[in-house]
Amino acid sequence: MKILLFGKNGQLGWELQRSLAPLGESVAVDFDTQGALCGDFTDLAGIAETVRRVAPQVIVNAAAYTAVDKAESEPELARSINAQAPAVLAEAAERLGAWFVHYSTDYVFDGGGTLPRVETDPTGPLSVYGRTKLEGEYAAARCAKHLIFRTSWVYAARGANFVRTMLRLAAERDDLRVIDDQIGAPTGADLLADVTAHALRAVESQPRLAGLYHLTAGGETSWHAYACFVIEEARRAGHPLRVAADRIEAIPGSAYPTPARRPANSRLDTGKLRKAFGLYLPDWRVGVRRLLDEWPVASLEERTPGSVRRER
Ligand SMILES: NC(=O)c1ccc[n+]([C@@H]2O[C@H](COP(=O)([O-])OP(=O)(O)OC[C@H]3O[C@@H](n4cnc5c(N)ncnc54)[C@H](OP(=O)(O)O)[C@@H]3O)[C@@H](O)[C@H]2O)c1
Repeated sequence: MKILLFGKNGQLGWELQRSLAPLGESVAVDFDTQGALCGDFTDLAGIAETVRRVAPQVIVNAAAYTAVDKAESEPELARSINAQAPAVLAEAAERLGAWFVHYSTDYVFDGGGTLPRVETDPTGPLSVYGRTKLEGEYAAARCAKHLIFRTSWVYAARGANFVRTMLRLAAERDDLRVIDDQIGAPTGADLLADVTAHALRAVESQPRLAGLYHLTAGGETSWHAYACFVIEEARRAGHPLRVAADRIEAIPGSAYPTPARRPANSRLDTGKLRKAFGLYLPDWRVGVRRLLDEWPVASLEERTPGSVRRER
């Protein structure tokens, strides 16, 4: 299996480099890849030519415009990266008879209700990011052999994410205020990458499994409860923090206005994926605890960029 991976240096892309390695030869690019190959999603001709040169059996797209708030003021750039580039890749994959793996988000939903959403539920994105990601889903599905994974609240050891932001703030401040009326499942990029590798193995012999799947860790939480868990576990792992979990105030989303609206209900029903691929999705706490145990206390500062680059 020859694999072409786009977005190799994002949270998910980094983990995919590891999880896809045993499946076959991988060629991995990012937006600043130099030389004959192009991974810059604003260069549509360049990425099409890259697919032509590599001629992979699988294209995996981990690149995305993920700056949810900034997307409100850069809708064209967000659309170009989240929708137009995936369309080019899906068409190129279709021409080659290759698989196209793509990732989407809970933000394609309007966040109403309290039930977990299934794949066939009506969408209704609240933000530019959500709309461009939904358009990207439609584009990805133009390749018959597609796997589209909708996920939520992604974190990883590498990259900007909520866990890292909480640890940084908890080291600087005596108290924090965190939203408690948005519910979802924090999902490790390592889990996403590992499930992707399992799914690619499965579709080799069962191409009928092509389709759209919800893929998150098990369980659910609010951002506030998530923050409390992170702080408690980080303290247990020895990270020097000023904030104690009981100094994290729960606030409504309305008290923390942002340029982009976010869904209150980000629950995704993963039953279709678990059944199709025979997989078990561990509770979200398992992955977060592991991340905090693995993050050496001394290196946190060095791994934490002064400014949070892009985060949701
Ligand atoms: N993060 C979340 O909480 C979350 C939640 C639900 C779904 N998702 C989806 O999951 C997938 C993986 O997300 P992630 O968390 O791994 O995101 P990420 O860490 O932001 O990675 C995205 C990658 O795309 C790159 N990129 C940005 N502009 C590009 C361009 N013009 N050309 C090529 N690459 C470009 C980014 O580079 P720079 O970092 O250098 O800009 C980054 O390496 C995405 O499809 C995302 O929409 C993410």
